[in-house]
Amino acid sequence: MDANQKYAVIDPTTGKLDRRIFSDAAVYDDEMEKVFGRAWLMIGHESLVPAPDDFFHTYMGEDPVILTRDGQGRLHGLLNTCRHRGNRVVRCDDGNAKRFMCSYHGWTYRNDGALEYVPGEAEAYYDALDKSSLGLVEARVETYAGVVFATWAKDAPSLEAYLGDARWYLDTVFNRRDGGMQALGPMKWLEPVNWKTLVDNCSDNYHVPTSHLSSARVQTRYIGRPPLSHEDQFASPNQHAFVNGHSITFRDADDNVPRFVHGMSKDTMRLFQQYHEATMPEVERRLGAFRARRVQLGNHSIFPNGILGLRMALPRGPLKTEFWHFVLVDRDAPDEIKRALRIGSQANNGAAGMFEQDDVDNWRQVTLASMSRLGRQHPQDLSMGLGHAGPHPDYPGLVSERYISENNQRLFYRRWEEFMNAASWAHIPLDPITARFDGTATMRG
Ligand code: FES
Ligand SMILES: [Fe+2]
Repeated sequence: MDANQKYAVIDPTTGKLDRRIFSDAAVYDDEMEKVFGRAWLMIGHESLVPAPDDFFHTYMGEDPVILTRDGQGRLHGLLNTCRHRGNRVVRCDDGNAKRFMCSYHGWTYRNDGALEYVPGEAEAYYDALDKSSLGLVEARVETYAGVVFATWAKDAPSLEAYLGDARWYLDTVFNRRDGGMQALGPMKWLEPVNWKTLVDNCSDNYHVPTSHLSSARVQTRYIGRPPLSHEDQFASPNQHAFVNGHSITFRDADDNVPRFVHGMSKDTMRLFQQYHEATMPEVERRLGAFRARRVQLGNHSIFPNGILGLRMALPRGPLKTEFWHFVLVDRDAPDEIKRALRIGSQANNGAAGMFEQDDVDNWRQVTLASMSRLGRQHPQDLSMGLGHAGPHPDYPGLVSERYISENNQRLFYRRWEEFMNAASWAHIPLDPITARFDGTATMRG
C-alpha cells in the first residue's frame, strides 16, 4: 500500500478490514464522488422502457435519474433536476412522455434531455437565455444484454471493458436466450445497513449453514437440493472468481441439471428440467458448449452495488440502504416458469423473504458494530483462504481454490480503495479481456 494514499482499509497480508468504512459520514461522502460518481452503475433494464417515449425513474447512487427511450429508440440517463432552480421534472416511477415539464416555472425538456421551451423566453429573459446549454445533465449510458448501465465519468472505459472477463460468467444467466430477459418489479424497501455489507455478502457462502440454518433446512427438505450443511459447503466443488471489482461464485456442473434458482421445488423441478433441456441447443449456440453445459453462475455482485442479478443496493447515507429487487426472467420462458421464479424470488429474497430476513439481521449488526466506539477500533478479520487464489486454466479472473473463502471480499475492498484513492479513471487499473467468448452472444445480447 502506498503510504501517501488516503484510504488503506484492507490489509492484503492479514485480511484486516477497517470497520469505520461502514458508518463514517466523511467516507460516505467520498464514496458518492469517487465510487458512485465514476463507476458504471446498473440503473435498470431495457424491458422497463420497451416503447419509444417510455421512461423509468431510477438512481445513480443518491442522484435521481430518468432512464428514457427517446422517439428514435435511443436510451438516455438524465439527472432529474431542472436546470433552472433544481425542481424534479419527473415525480412518478415510470410512464410514457415525449416531454417533461417542470412544475415550478414550466421549463420543458424533451425526453432526450434538450431544453425545448421556457415560458417568457422573450418577455422575461430578453431572448438572452442559452437554452442549448441548459439541457438536463446526461450520463453516459450503455447496455449489456438488456441491462442498462450509466456513468457520470466521461473518461470511464467502455462498459465492455469495465465488465471485462466477468461477462464470461454473467452471460450464463443474462445472455442465454435469443429473446433476452425481462425485468419484473422492483420491490423497494429500506434497511438500516451500509450498502457494502450486502455487496460483500454475495461471495459469502460461509454464513449459509449458520445464518440460514432454518431456511436451508426448509429448502433442502422441500426441494431436495441443494444441500447446505457446513459439510456440503466445505466439500463443494463450486468456486469464486474476481474480475475488476466484480465478484462471481459459480458451479462447474456437468450433470445436465439446471442452475439452482429460488422457485424450484418438488412441484416445479420437472418444468425447470424440461426448460433446461429444451433450450440447451440455443444456449450452446449462444455461449459455446463449455459455458452452456458446465458453467453455472451463482451469487455475484457487479461493482459497486449491483447484486444477485438485477438488484440494486442504493446508498441512502452511511447507515441506510434502499433495496431495489427485480426478478429477471427469460422473456420467452413459459409462463409457469416465470410464475415460479417470481414467487420464489420474492419469497426468498424479497422484503419479507425467508433468506433475506436472515441476511439483513447480519448486515444490521455489521453496520452497528462500526458505530460502536470500541468495536470499530477492532478490524474485521477477512483472512480466510489468504494465499489460496490465482489464475485458473479453465476459468477467467482470479479464482479461489475453494468455495468457502474470503478472497472475493478482500479484493472487493481493494477495488474500493482503488476507486477511492484514484484522481481519475486513468489511475484505476483494469484487467484486460482474456477470456474466450465462444458462441454468438455479444454485449448487445
Ligand atoms: S425550477 Fe424548473 S422551471 Fe424553475
Ligand atoms: Fe445469506
